[in-house]
Amino acid sequence: MSIAIRNFHAVFAMLFALGLGACSSMQATPPMEKSLYERLGGQPAITAVVDDFVGNVAADTRINGFFAKTNIQHLKTLLVEQICAGTGGPCKYTGRSMRLAHAGMGVGDAQFGALVEDLVKTLDKFGVPAKEKNELLAILGPMKSDIVTR
Ligand code: HEM
Repeated sequence: MSIAIRNFHAVFAMLFALGLGACSSMQATPPMEKSLYERLGGQPAITAVVDDFVGNVAADTRINGFFAKTNIQHLKTLLVEQICAGTGGPCKYTGRSMRLAHAGMGVGDAQFGALVEDLVKTLDKFGVPAKEKNELLAILGPMKSDIVTR
């Protein structure tokens, strides 16, 4: 074997040892997980969840007083936009920031907890699996510090 060929073999072996020999198509890449938006069922499912959830809030005497003067249809539209955008869907949220929208309302820890309970009730009713439920709650959770002001 000529020196040139032996050197070629040596270089090739070294590249493999460094992991450079494997081309990307040979590596097992896990399939991309669908967005939470898709896993929840897209716009129709999110709209149905928001409808039911706002229904729970409207019937919840712990917090429904806050919504006495609210345009509920508009609130539903904004909630759908917010959840759609926040879960990787094709929407744009057109409402106010959470801090501005809830400013001066005097929402406390207990009221925030009540609203989350109302949402979980809906998610359970719709059979949303624990993984997706927790992912959605993890998106909403960090908003708490902008909403709870007392
Ligand atoms: C993670 C929890 C929450 C989210 C994601 C959320 C989301 C929103 C959104 C998107 C709006 C519409 C914003 C706009 O009008 O531009 C809104 C408005 C409102 N939220 Fe929340 N909210 C949360 C918690 C709460 C809680 C705990 C209360 C009270 C118990 C509350 C009471 C209200 C009220 C009364 C309005 C309507 C304000 C108005 O009529 O101008 N929210 N919220």
